Amino acid sequence: MAILSPVLTQSSSVLVDHASGSWIYDSKGESYLDFSTGIGVTSTGHCHPRVVAAARDQVGKVIHAQATTVRHRPMADFIDELSTVLPSSLDSVFFSNSGSEAVESAIRLARMATGRPNIIAFQGGFHGRTMAAASVTSAATHVRSGFGPLMGGVYFAPYPNHFHYGWPVDQTVEFCLRELDFLFHTQTMPKETAAFLIEPVQGDGGYIQTPPAFLQGLRALADEHGIMLVCDEVQAGAGKTGRFWSHELAGITPDIMTMAKGIASGFPISAIAAPTEIMSRAWPGSQGGTYGGNAVAAAAGAETIRVIADEHLVENAGTQGSELGRLLAPLADRYDQVGETRGVGVMRAVEFVDAEGRPAPQTASAVLKAAEREHLLVLTCGPYGNVVRLIPPLNVSAEEIALGATRFQAAVSAVLD
Ligand SMILES: Cc1ncc(COP(=O)(O)O)c(C=O)c1O
Repeated sequence: MAILSPVLTQSSSVLVDHASGSWIYDSKGESYLDFSTGIGVTSTGHCHPRVVAAARDQVGKVIHAQATTVRHRPMADFIDELSTVLPSSLDSVFFSNSGSEAVESAIRLARMATGRPNIIAFQGGFHGRTMAAASVTSAATHVRSGFGPLMGGVYFAPYPNHFHYGWPVDQTVEFCLRELDFLFHTQTMPKETAAFLIEPVQGDGGYIQTPPAFLQGLRALADEHGIMLVCDEVQAGAGKTGRFWSHELAGITPDIMTMAKGIASGFPISAIAAPTEIMSRAWPGSQGGTYGGNAVAAAAGAETIRVIADEHLVENAGTQGSELGRLLAPLADRYDQVGETRGVGVMRAVEFVDAEGRPAPQTASAVLKAAEREHLLVLTCGPYGNVVRLIPPLNVSAEEIALGATRFQAAVSAVLD
């Protein structure tokens, strides 16, 4: 009798029966307010009726129409819908299945497009678990340790996480840009550097918005040296930050962008987008895959983008997310063990520390468990596992935000009072 790999543990004990909107129902009929959204995936809520209808309709027409063998309508539709939200310069799209695969494709494209070998990634960044994606990940050693050697040509630069350094934001940005210049002089010359790879809002690394001045600094350096600026929008994209793409918060446009998770409300599909001129520099045959751009996932993706527009969900994510942030903020005044509450849009986080201000992962785990007892599902993140993240769907209601905040406060109180 086979069992699920014992290494794949779950953060809650919930056995899901079905789910709808912001709610998960278990096999015993209990309901849970889902502020985990499957790690930021169910953007339009669970089983949005329009997404369900689009997928059902497509299943009866064709499920698998392999993208390097034939063309199919849902993929063309999805590209049309993405065109309404992508920066106009990123007019070429290649589909794959997971965020990691999109990151792999972006790395391959950046190297082929520049003819340069090296990638500069940023400390605390998370880009996935496949070999190249793990090689550029530094959000946690458990993602990259034990199966090396990893891919070469990867250099990590300090990331402007002001809470980690304990400095004001401006000073942290200045330090990080200086260290990047130092990296150019000590480890990888600009002319051998293919790409900067960065999350405009760090996800698994702790829900930290990259300061706009840092992204603007990277954009300027990329332009100066012919380096590709790759923004990983897998977690923060598709409306979560109150902008469709999180790089918009800094007013910059990347050369290559990855996307996945929220773009199809739960169907496994990912993509990279780039200017056609850059995408065309990929070597023939270097892009492909059996399942990439699956017809059912693409139909769900196209409908997801339409639902986000029709129901004004980017705006809703901004409004409701700010309200959640406002409701969580007093926790930092009330408890010494809350080092910071932060976030943007519906990406919200609470960082727990001990009496000396050091990371307190046990507190975060205890709060996660207490939240489950309050019937609220949240997740931990951060290199030390001491951050609790709350990620409601884009269409969360004001009542659900208020209820989620009340349940979370109760969970924190159960652990810390
Ligand atoms: C920013 C970012 N990039 C890439 C990935 C990898 O995506 P996947 O787990 O679909 O491979 C993730 C997953 O959490 C992510 O948050």
